[in-house]
Amino acid sequence: MCGIIGAVARRNIVPLLLEGLQRLEYRGYDSCGLAVYDDGRLQSARSTARVSDLAQRVADLGLQGLTGIAHTRWATHGKPATHNAHPHFSPSEAQPRIALCHNGIIENHEVLRRRLEEAGYVFASQTDTEVIAHLIDHLYRGDLFEAVAQAVAQLHGSYALAVCSPEEPHRVVGARQGSPLVVGVGADGHYLASDALALAGVTDQIVYLEDGDIVDIQLERYWLADADGRAVTRPQRTVQVHTGAAELGPYRHFMQKEIFEQPRAVADTLKDVEGVMPELFGDKAWPAFARVRTVLIIACGSSYYAGLTAKYWIETLARIPVTVEIASEYRYRDSPTDPDTLVVAVSQSGETADTLGALRHARAQGMDMTLAICNIASSSLVRECALSFITHAGVEIGVASTKAFTTQMVALFLLALSLAQVRGRLSDSEEAEHLKALRHLPLALQAVLAQEPQIIAWAERFARCNDALFLGRGMHYPVALEGALKLKEISYLHAEAYPAGELKHGPLALVSEDMPVVTVAPNDALLEKLKSNMQEVDARGGQLYVFADADSAVTASPSVHVIRLAEHYGLLSPILHTVPLQLLAYHTAVIRGTDIDKPRNLAKSVTVE
Ligand code: F6R
Repeated sequence: MCGIIGAVARRNIVPLLLEGLQRLEYRGYDSCGLAVYDDGRLQSARSTARVSDLAQRVADLGLQGLTGIAHTRWATHGKPATHNAHPHFSPSEAQPRIALCHNGIIENHEVLRRRLEEAGYVFASQTDTEVIAHLIDHLYRGDLFEAVAQAVAQLHGSYALAVCSPEEPHRVVGARQGSPLVVGVGADGHYLASDALALAGVTDQIVYLEDGDIVDIQLERYWLADADGRAVTRPQRTVQVHTGAAELGPYRHFMQKEIFEQPRAVADTLKDVEGVMPELFGDKAWPAFARVRTVLIIACGSSYYAGLTAKYWIETLARIPVTVEIASEYRYRDSPTDPDTLVVAVSQSGETADTLGALRHARAQGMDMTLAICNIASSSLVRECALSFITHAGVEIGVASTKAFTTQMVALFLLALSLAQVRGRLSDSEEAEHLKALRHLPLALQAVLAQEPQIIAWAERFARCNDALFLGRGMHYPVALEGALKLKEISYLHAEAYPAGELKHGPLALVSEDMPVVTVAPNDALLEKLKSNMQEVDARGGQLYVFADADSAVTASPSVHVIRLAEHYGLLSPILHTVPLQLLAYHTAVIRGTDIDKPRNLAKSVTVE
């Protein structure tokens, strides 16, 4: 999704801005641009292609400068087009007094637009962002910081802003509300970015802004004010970003690389786990876990499906009732609250606007036991939750969640065990058995990955269909949901998932030989029930593609195709069964020739609601 980088430095910042944009590319974008101050002028370039195209334009124009801002845009208001790409200018691009980049959504942009048009401003784009540029210009009386402070007081919605003006050439002003923004403190200047990753190689000294903060970036210093206009300081942290993750190695796509990294990612996530204990989730977890009467899990997309799996684990192991809510729905619902609820927010990025919104909604309802399961230790989500568990998947570049998802499941399984332990429902021998199974997971995952050639053969069939149905039962129903999501987002095929018992209540009408039916069929207590559901498909001419376990009594036939996983993995089986579905989606997309790591219309970190 949108990304910002800004700089005031002693050296030409154009290469640094372009490299920063390149680091943010994986998040998904449809246009990009930059503005730099040089020789008394603010000059700009924009592109609706890749950052490499922008770099070419910048080189052709010979742009350079010591102060500037840059942006990758993921369209919300106004289609992807050069005139909608950021930076936006006021009063006009030809004679700019203000240049501005924005992440987020301004909800009252229509009212402001009308007002500014009445004041004589002419709009060059369909974006909500341009409203902010004109508003700042309208309020500008020679002090950019002051004008930004007055403008943001009139905005409703979410924003991270980077603003500069040729009238004050060595200054960039930033502001944040509901969208992340950091300050980078470097040896030769100060920087602004929506993600510390954009500043990798420039500085590792990062200051995270809080909602309502406005920051004044200058060459020798930076200065911060909070929402009430008071001067504040925020802690400066050393943040190591692993840029090596951006190398493909022998793989064709980052998604494939990340699927194959799962044994390592799971092992890393478990590396500090010496035993089951609430303290895995923070020093203050024990009293909180002892108080818990219900668990509420909030998340979006794949993270939501990880949460659905956790419901089975927590209810089975700890006997605590669990509700799993889609964050964008929960945050606007007036649902009953219980202060003894453990609110678990699951997010790879920790910056998903809806998940953060749902967390804040839960807290506003008096639920203060909050736990983040997150892959990014420095994220807003981790900083806003009382407790946290950091998965060690490493940077995930592919838009589709793979290693982040499986490591979330590992973290949630540890949560189920810890809650069970606090409730006296986990004996020492049970703990030892579960830990042994967890530690064996990396090897078990290797064995699943070794089945890639068989899955490629199936992908040939899937690449030719228009629709696919995924079935699972019990804790493998969320796995079916995740499999369908993976297939649709990267291969653009229509796919749906159902709990297999629901087939005869509607979806059976869709079954024909043209629609493959993927079935997740581990050798668990529900296998016999599932086999009846498979018969229902077979009897109606459907083609079944079954992921079974070595000992699942499922017989292959011309209409029943079976791939067997090496072993049945008990409660952890959903983690193993996810992997062949990732590979199926990946290879189907390879055959269909889609943009696998950056699927159309999608973004990696969804920082707008
Ligand atoms: C699907 C996918 C998305 C994310 C969702 C939440 O492959 O990646 O559905 O799971 O956007 O993102 P996070 O986990 O960052 O909150």
